[in-house]
Amino acid sequence: MELTKLKEIQAAEARLLLPTYDRNPILFEGGEGVYIIDEQGGRYLDLLSGIGVNALGYGNPVIEEAIARQSRKLIHTSNLYFHAGQAALAVRLTERTGMDRAFFCNSGTEAWECAMKLARAHAGLLRSEGRQIGTKFLAIEQSFHGRTFGAVSTTYKAKYREPFEPVVPGVEFVKFNDVNDLRAKFSNEVCAILVEAIQGEGGVRPLSQEFLNEARALSQSTGALLLADEIQCGMGRTGKWCAYQHYGIHPDVTTLAKPLAGGIPMGATLCTEEVARAFHVGMHGTTFGGGPLACAVACAVVDEIEKEHLLANATEVGGYFRAQLDVLAQRHEQIVDVRSIGLMLAAEINSADLAKHLVAEMLKRHILINCTSGTVLRFLPPLILKREHVDTAIAALDEILTECAADNDASTAAYAAEGQDNG
Ligand SMILES: Cc1ncc(COP(=O)(O)O)c(C=O)c1O
Repeated sequence: MELTKLKEIQAAEARLLLPTYDRNPILFEGGEGVYIIDEQGGRYLDLLSGIGVNALGYGNPVIEEAIARQSRKLIHTSNLYFHAGQAALAVRLTERTGMDRAFFCNSGTEAWECAMKLARAHAGLLRSEGRQIGTKFLAIEQSFHGRTFGAVSTTYKAKYREPFEPVVPGVEFVKFNDVNDLRAKFSNEVCAILVEAIQGEGGVRPLSQEFLNEARALSQSTGALLLADEIQCGMGRTGKWCAYQHYGIHPDVTTLAKPLAGGIPMGATLCTEEVARAFHVGMHGTTFGGGPLACAVACAVVDEIEKEHLLANATEVGGYFRAQLDVLAQRHEQIVDVRSIGLMLAAEINSADLAKHLVAEMLKRHILINCTSGTVLRFLPPLILKREHVDTAIAALDEILTECAADNDASTAAYAAEGQDNG
């Protein structure tokens, strides 16, 4: 039986899938540019882009052409043989990240697993060379690194970790941007400090320059590594290829995924030559990772980001978006903070209920955003976004917030009147 109607699909999923998602009742079938299109042809302005994946928008001819071309040639071969894609992509990514070597996989969480394994293996190598260094990881409060066991062990929120305990031992969390806490928890027991230069799921929160400087200096003092997770903030979203490049900091290992292959699943772990010494043949691997199809598409994505000047666009349109959010925050006291770098933006709302309501109301107006960390409206639009799309979103938010304030005034007045009635 072919399932076409939303209700039938919902019923089938409820019966057949593990209950891991609480989906919005919309059935998407297509997309064009910054718009995703539902089964009735309804167009939605997508300011979330598949949670930071569809950086080139929908129906991008360059991605479609790369998929078509490569799929006619070769979709998969094992990592036992050569194909042209991995070296071609590694050249592009090492040049842009300042790293020396790459390992390709299929998702963000896998890229992070590889980064963690590199850190442990590197510490082992240093020990074998007579250095004193342990196996502990220092992660940051509110971090998100993924759902596999290693990654979830370094992810802060207890709800992601606790049902699966015992998770990987030896992880300690440092208070966000608290340099003293970092100093207090760092020792030669630590093999790596794990950061997102700009936390994504944690609410679009940038690390301070001072904190990152200290993380870099402390790790260098013992031979420990600095691991920068760029899965959400990398690949041009902040206006640079990697968010750490805004800080003038060079980590030892970085991870990319989400937009890397234009929606085809792919992750990458990149590291310095020094760190690469830790791996040798057989220590790590994957069946699908770095396949010809994903590599060909990722090369096309990198080239297209450059050809279309999308880093500059992220800075320019992101700056405009930020300025409009700041104006909105002045008009509406429900917005208590605005944070952004490039096209990674957040508006923090003064109540979780209101934040949820705003996401739902935006959806009714066919604009996709989401809420993270309870009260943070998050915007991760495609990097092809234009000012006119920002104007549409800001006008909608303005209207909804104005309505909410009026409703609130009305209910406060009603409450006050009721109070008076009751004496
Ligand atoms: C910073 C960061 N790291 C890791 C991940 C995990 O990536 P994936 O969902 O592809 O496994 C995410 C996903 O949201 C992320 O934002």
